[in-house]
Amino acid sequence: MSQDSKTTSKPWQGRFSEPTDAFVEAFTASVEFDKRLYQQDISGSIAHAKMLAKCGIISTDEANKINQGLEQILEEIVAGQFNWSIALEDVHMNIEARLIEITGDTGKKLHTGRSRNDQVATDLRLYLRDQIDAISPILLTLQTELLNLAEKEVNTIMPGFTHLQTAQPVTFGHHIMAWFNMLDRDRDRLIDCRKRVNVMPLGSAALAGTSYPIDRHFTAQLLGFDTVSENSLDAVSDRDFAIEFAAFAAILLVHLSRISEELVLWNSSQFNFIQLPDRFCTGSSIMPQKKNPDVPELVRGKSARIFGNLTSLLTLMKAQTLAYNKDNQEDKEPLFDSIDNVKGCLRAFADMLPAIVPNRESMLQAAKAGFSTATDLADYLVTKDVPFRDAHEVVGKAVAYCIENNCMLDELTLEKLKTFSSIIEKDVYERLTLEGSVNSRNHFGATAPAQVKSAIKNARQSLKKFYNADKKP
Ligand code: ARG
Repeated sequence: MSQDSKTTSKPWQGRFSEPTDAFVEAFTASVEFDKRLYQQDISGSIAHAKMLAKCGIISTDEANKINQGLEQILEEIVAGQFNWSIALEDVHMNIEARLIEITGDTGKKLHTGRSRNDQVATDLRLYLRDQIDAISPILLTLQTELLNLAEKEVNTIMPGFTHLQTAQPVTFGHHIMAWFNMLDRDRDRLIDCRKRVNVMPLGSAALAGTSYPIDRHFTAQLLGFDTVSENSLDAVSDRDFAIEFAAFAAILLVHLSRISEELVLWNSSQFNFIQLPDRFCTGSSIMPQKKNPDVPELVRGKSARIFGNLTSLLTLMKAQTLAYNKDNQEDKEPLFDSIDNVKGCLRAFADMLPAIVPNRESMLQAAKAGFSTATDLADYLVTKDVPFRDAHEVVGKAVAYCIENNCMLDELTLEKLKTFSSIIEKDVYERLTLEGSVNSRNHFGATAPAQVKSAIKNARQSLKKFYNADKKP
C-alpha cells in the first residue's frame, strides 16, 4: 500500500457513531508539535515488540516484522517522505497506522499491553534524556571558556560593586569565576534532574498496568532506563521530570540574564569595561553610531519565556486528578521551548564569551575613582589598634574630604592623612594601592590572584570527569 492511501481512520473509531467534528479534530491534535518525538517513539516500540516476543505474547517472527516496519518508517521520516496526518492526532497513531499499512495484521499487535498514556510518558522521558545529554556538553564548553577567560584575567583589577556602587577592588578573574560557579550549580541540577527523567513508565498501560505477562525490566534495559516506575497510576500522570527540567532552565536563565545585564552595561560607553566583537552585535537602522549588544540583550529577554514555561508546567499539573488527563498533552510545547532556547542561549554564550575584549585600563581607572580602597584604610587603622567602628568613622571623613576636593585617598599627603588620624604613617600607601588591596584578600574564596588561580585549577579538575563522559552528563 502506498503512503498516499494510508488509512486515516482512528484506532478508537469502533465505539463512535459519527466522525469527529473537523474543528475538534484539529483542536485536539498534537502531531504538529509531538512529531519531533518520532525517534523515541520508534525506539520505544521496537523495545516493546522485542519484550512481547521474549515473553511469548507475540511470536519472534511477528516482532521481527514489526521492527523492520518501524525501521522503514524511521527512514521515511528522516527522508521527509512520511505523510503526517492531523486526522491521526499524534505521533503515536501516525506511526502505528503506517506500520499497519506496511505489515498488515501483524502491526496491529504492537499496541498489545500498552496504551498511549504510558507510551507518551516514555517517549517524552527518552527525548528529554537525549536532550539533556546534548545540552550537557554545550554547558561544559561554556564553563571551559569561562575558565580560560578567568585565567587570562586573574591579575586584571576592576571595581567590585554592591548596589551598583563601587565597593572594593576585585580581580576580573574572580568576577568571571563567580559566573562559573553559578553555572556549575546549574550543571549539578541538570545531572540530578536526569536521574528522575531516566525512569521507565512503559508497562503502566492506560493506568492500572496490563493483564499480559510482560517483563518491564527487560524493556527498560533495552531502552537504557536506570529503573522502572513503581506505581502505574503515578507513572502515566507524572510530569515532575519535565517541571524539574523547566526549573533547571529557569534558574540557568536567571544566571545568563544576570551575566547579560553586566555585559550590556560594561559594553556601554559609560562603563567601557569590555568590547563585544562586532559579530555579536547589530547596528541601528536610524542611528549610524550604534553598535547594539543584541546577543546578551536577547538572552536576557529569553528568560521571560523560560520562566513562563516553568509556570505553564506547574499550572498544568496543579490539581490534576490521577491518572492521565488530556491536559497533559499541553506539557510538550513549554518543555520543547525551554529545551530549544536553553540550547540556543548556551551556544550563543559559549561562542561570545571567549571573544569579549576587556578594556583593562578603563577597569583600573574605574576602580581608582570610586574610593574602592576605603575599607583597606580602615583595616590599616585596625592593625594599629583603632577599633573598627572608629576607623570607619575616620575613613568616612577622609572620603568626604576627597569628594569635596576632587581627589583620591592615595593622593592625600601624609600630613593631610594625619589630620584624620595621627596614627597613620607612611606605610599606609601600600595598603591604599589597588594591587595591595586585592592581594590582601588572600584566603579561600577571596579575590587575590593567588586564590583565583587555585579556584581555576580546582574547577578544571572537577570538570575533567565530564570531558570523556560518553552519554551521561
Ligand atoms: N497525544 C497525547 C498526549 O500528548 C498522547 C496520549 C493520549 N492519550 C489519550 N488517552 N488520549 O498526551
